Amino acid sequence: MSVQNNQKKSVTINTLSKLKEEGEKFASLTAYDFCSAYSVSASGVEVILVGDSLGMVIQGHDSSLPVTIDDVAYHVRCVKRGNQGSFIMADMPFMSYYAKDQTLENCALLMREGAQMVKLEGGSWLSDFTKLLVRHGIPVCAHMGLTPQSVNHLGGYRVQGRNPDKAQEMIDEALVLQDAGAGIILLECVPRSLGTRITEVLDVPVIGIGAGPDTDGQIMVWHDLLGLYPGRPAKFVKNFLDGEPNGIQGAISRYVDAVKRVEFPGPEHCYD
Ligand code: KIV
Repeated sequence: MSVQNNQKKSVTINTLSKLKEEGEKFASLTAYDFCSAYSVSASGVEVILVGDSLGMVIQGHDSSLPVTIDDVAYHVRCVKRGNQGSFIMADMPFMSYYAKDQTLENCALLMREGAQMVKLEGGSWLSDFTKLLVRHGIPVCAHMGLTPQSVNHLGGYRVQGRNPDKAQEMIDEALVLQDAGAGIILLECVPRSLGTRITEVLDVPVIGIGAGPDTDGQIMVWHDLLGLYPGRPAKFVKNFLDGEPNGIQGAISRYVDAVKRVEFPGPEHCYD
């Protein structure tokens, strides 16, 4: 079996910034292996995330906490082989970035395997790490709002930034991270109005999941998009395979189209 490159031009961080400048939305999706990476990138998804959600959807744990840096490195390697030009972002898993040297070494491992950006969960406390990584040529995405690695601290998978003080704090922290050099901010599970506000005040692209339709990009987990994960889906999830005559490829294309036309997420997928 041979594979050909189907995406015309590789996506870079500059492509995403330009899309933001031009007010065009972009789509992101997780992938963890060769075939899913191939389908995702060949369908025109701009960003592939090798997410630590793999702990739940691939490994069957009840959180992402057991995922190791070697697990993520393995999946980045598989995804890179299937990628057709999407921008590959990789998650730094729980406790893989508590000290400077350890963070640099772990990020370097993911970049060597094929990641083009690393994603770390947290707020303004990440700014020193962000400066250090960027200085070493490692682009950083800061994941804010609901940060699943802190599920035990947060007391569950809950919407963040509902109260005005917390919302303002998140806006201020996003600005600090942008100033430190973060190239993307990812917002999970925040009220729509906060997603809108953070997207407006930042120059860098903002990707949302459960953050409303106004963020520059949207992201979904592959297994949620296809309705594969057992149990009750989160409010922001839509099964794009449901009623789709053209199977998985059709479902991904429907998702990309819906994001670009700002039809997804709809009001039923948002928090007020
Ligand atoms: O790990 C992951 O898949 C993620 C997304 C939910 C954004 O971080």
